[in-house]
Amino acid sequence: MASASSFCLLLVVALADSGTSTRRTLRSWVNWGCDEPCPERNVTAVYLRADGPNDTLHYLWDFVGAPSVLLAVTPPSAWLNISWDDYLARRENSVYFSEKPTYTFGVIISKIIEFNDVNDTALIDTADVKNTNVLRTEYFNWRRVSLSQKSELVNLDMEGNSYHDTANISRYGSVKLSLQGFCTLDHSDMVPHMLHTENSTLVDIILDHMQTNETFSKSRFAIELLAVGGGNPEVPMFVDPKKSLDDEHTPGIFEVVEVRTPPYNNLDGTLNAGSYLQWRPVSYSNALREITSSTETIQYPPKQVFNHTSIIRNSMLYCYYGEATDNLLMQKIMVSLGSKGDGYYKKSSYLTWTFMIGYGTPPEERFSSLVIMIISIGLGLPLLIMVATGLYLCVRRVPKRHGNVYLSR
Ligand SMILES: *[C@@H]1O[C@H](CO)[C@@H](O)[C@H](O)[C@H]1NC(C)=O
Ligand SMILES: *[C@@H]1O[C@H](CO)[C@@H](O)[C@H](O)[C@H]1NC(C)=O
Ligand SMILES: *[C@@H]1O[C@H](CO)[C@@H](O)[C@H](O)[C@H]1NC(C)=O
Ligand SMILES: *[C@@H]1O[C@H](CO)[C@@H](O)[C@H](O)[C@H]1NC(C)=O
Ligand SMILES: *[C@@H]1O[C@H](CO)[C@@H](O)[C@H](O)[C@H]1NC(C)=O
Ligand SMILES: *[C@@H]1O[C@H](CO)[C@@H](O)[C@H](O)[C@H]1NC(C)=O
Ligand SMILES: *[C@@H]1O[C@H](CO)[C@@H](O)[C@H](O)[C@H]1NC(C)=O
Ligand SMILES: *[C@@H]1O[C@H](CO)[C@@H](O)[C@H](O)[C@H]1NC(C)=O
Repeated sequence: MASASSFCLLLVVALADSGTSTRRTLRSWVNWGCDEPCPERNVTAVYLRADGPNDTLHYLWDFVGAPSVLLAVTPPSAWLNISWDDYLARRENSVYFSEKPTYTFGVIISKIIEFNDVNDTALIDTADVKNTNVLRTEYFNWRRVSLSQKSELVNLDMEGNSYHDTANISRYGSVKLSLQGFCTLDHSDMVPHMLHTENSTLVDIILDHMQTNETFSKSRFAIELLAVGGGNPEVPMFVDPKKSLDDEHTPGIFEVVEVRTPPYNNLDGTLNAGSYLQWRPVSYSNALREITSSTETIQYPPKQVFNHTSIIRNSMLYCYYGEATDNLLMQKIMVSLGSKGDGYYKKSSYLTWTFMIGYGTPPEERFSSLVIMIISIGLGLPLLIMVATGLYLCVRRVPKRHGNVYLSR
């Protein structure tokens, strides 16, 4: 009986699960509307649109400069348009929409920072300037490795090599960056199997055999993001580490870190949730991504940025926002890879970081049907045994009394 009711609960949960998820139609293009200059310059900018019943989410993934992602919410009839000559020259307003978006948000993966962790604290904020080297991602040579464009999943793999910056600093080693767009609520295939919605993009970064500074004996790396978008610029974003229910999808990791932008005012005055970044605080040190070969990531309070426009000048976000960036919300988010006592970057020369960029409310991990079934069996089976034993005892007693009666006759 108890099992039966657990089973019903399971059914209800399964039904509720399928009821709440909405689906979007994905379509994507490489170098949308670009005829001549793109093949010549070998650039990659992927335009992805996810059409829902009442609105469309547009994404632009750009590797012309520093890797960046723009997200915009518009009515379904709106289209993105790029003036390519201006776009490649990084001029403002070279990206625009045929109808004004109700909301936009952009992220630049702007810097990879190497620091010499002399006291093995794994904290970048204790390292001073002379123990820190900044690599700006626009100085890597970005190459398209693969692109798969399906109606339910769009996946772009890029690789950045041969770092060479304006100060003549060169590095070997590669940064592998994958971006994924989705049409519905699910877990991603790749460990750490992040839960994504129809409104989110997955970003996976691998630092593969990056050359470290030979004067640093205890190198670690950190990644700095720049987030720009709608919402009140006076309200700081905040980082919120949360305990999660179970580690079924990301073995050994019971925490989810979330950064949310302040809510924004819709045209009709209603308050809408803005965007979020979300990740599991784990970094894997080989391609198998097992928990035994992993270390932690550490996040820091987001930092305010001055001179908004000049800081994004060479990126795709400048092409869209232009000088208007000064009045927008903008913050730096930093995450360092590694934890105290893990042997530093040189131990594996391979570290990963995976995060989601999403619009709306971040999805919450729920108990899966499997876990619910295990709990049901765990609770239901003992109850069933107790009830069965009880019944058996009752049944056995009854004939005994009959027997006594029979004997006493
Ligand atoms: C789309 O709009 C219709 C009518 O306004 C509404 O009933 C429906 O719930 C909306 N769908 C979604 C997914 O928001
Ligand atoms: C972009 O806009 C220009 C001028 O407004 C137009 O000629 C062009 O066809 C548009 N391109 C796309 C891909 O919509
Ligand atoms: C490392 O530890 C030494 C000794 O405790 C201290 O003097 C120094 O400031 C520390 N350096 C950093 C970068 O934390
Ligand atoms: C190594 O670090 C030192 C001190 O920060 C810096 O002057 C030098 O340019 C760095 N070398 C490389 C190759 O990054
Ligand atoms: C463009 O990229 C492809 C593959 O990424 C490469 O094979 C080719 O040599 C590149 N062409 C130029 C002109 O850089
Ligand atoms: C970088 O190296 C090139 C060639 O070696 C040299 O011509 C140039 O002046 C150097 N630039 C800087 C900023 O040191
Ligand atoms: C902003 O940029 C201007 C000119 O480039 C510079 O003079 C000023 O010091 C900068 N302000 C900050 C806070 O960095
Ligand atoms: C996804 O975006 C749509 C459209 O704005 C919104 O109505 C919906 O609540 C979002 N979904 C989630 C899970 O936040």
